[in-house]
Amino acid sequence: MPAPAVRPARVLSGIQPTADSFHIGNHLGALREWVRMQDTHDAYYVVVDQHAITVDHDPALLRQRTLVSFAQLLAIGLDPERCTVFVQSHVPEHSQLAWVLECQTGFGEASRMTQFKDKSQKGGADRSTVGLFTYPILQAADILIYQADAVPVGEDQRQHLELTRDLASRFNTNFGDTLTVPQAMFVKETAKIVDLADPTSKMSKSSPSGCAFLLDSDAVLAKKFKSAVTDSEREIRFDPAEKPGVSNLLTMQQAITGVTMESLVAGYEGRGYGDLKADTAEVVISFIRPIRERVVELMEHPDELRRLMGHGAAKARETARHTLAAVYDAVGFVAIPGE
Ligand code: AMP
Ligand code: TRP
Repeated sequence: MPAPAVRPARVLSGIQPTADSFHIGNHLGALREWVRMQDTHDAYYVVVDQHAITVDHDPALLRQRTLVSFAQLLAIGLDPERCTVFVQSHVPEHSQLAWVLECQTGFGEASRMTQFKDKSQKGGADRSTVGLFTYPILQAADILIYQADAVPVGEDQRQHLELTRDLASRFNTNFGDTLTVPQAMFVKETAKIVDLADPTSKMSKSSPSGCAFLLDSDAVLAKKFKSAVTDSEREIRFDPAEKPGVSNLLTMQQAITGVTMESLVAGYEGRGYGDLKADTAEVVISFIRPIRERVVELMEHPDELRRLMGHGAAKARETARHTLAAVYDAVGFVAIPGE
């Protein structure tokens, strides 16, 4: 007798469309894992454009960045048939659930979210919006509307995940079992990539000169790697604490080629930093080039891109509407025929 079919665990993750291009840190540190999980999980991936308007934004830029973010997710290998990849604002159930969850969230509880504190301090507390304040509750809705079992995220999202779990449990206690309480999933093996120009800080779009963007040209990438900061020694070894620049280059090569660190380092015996930089540039450029070419191709066909967005949104809504109906019923909203 065949074994009963086991539903693969459902994962959901999201990324903001707040950059003109993702970078190699996003890819090796997070997105590559998204691609892998398409085959092991029932995976939902969302471009969170609604989160992107919690701070000042330019509408034309947001539209462009949402399209190019979605295109990049496809270009790195997300397959709209093997996962559900979509844009948040296309699935109104996120906001609808967020309202219900807001009514379950304590004011003090929301006030303790450190991301809000950081971001509102930066922009000046008076200029912070209520949307920025409720950001983590919308994030909780992104997750709970799909009954996700697990949420692959970086450490910086730990507190938002805790809130999500608290809200799901509280809802279930108050209104009966309705929402799956998700696990945070901090993928340990993923690479942490540091800034090429300043290896003491994490690679980030906010420091473009040390950031290898997926949409940088070969020439720009070559230049960034050529001027990558190393150290005043000559020895090539993997030691992120003492030699962050050199180790970063090794990490990128290792993550892309899959060779062991040991044999990678052994191959540099008697060779210098110039070789290490040139090799890393070559490895990264060959890795990024096909992605960039695919993005360019997708962006030349915006109608097709929008069609794929529609496909993702339709798949996502199929799940989301069931959860919303259960939630609305649980809180006592009257159902009308046909809904
Ligand atoms: P962000 O747009 O900075 O929030 O990043 C989106 C995703 O990429 C998050 O899951 C981050 O953990 C990951 N990420 C961002 N920068 C890096 C980096 N330099 N190295 C590794 N992962 C990163
Ligand atoms: N807040 C996340 C970030 O800044 C993005 C995000 C929004 C998200 N909704 C989500 C991540 C749901 C995981 C699950 O990176």
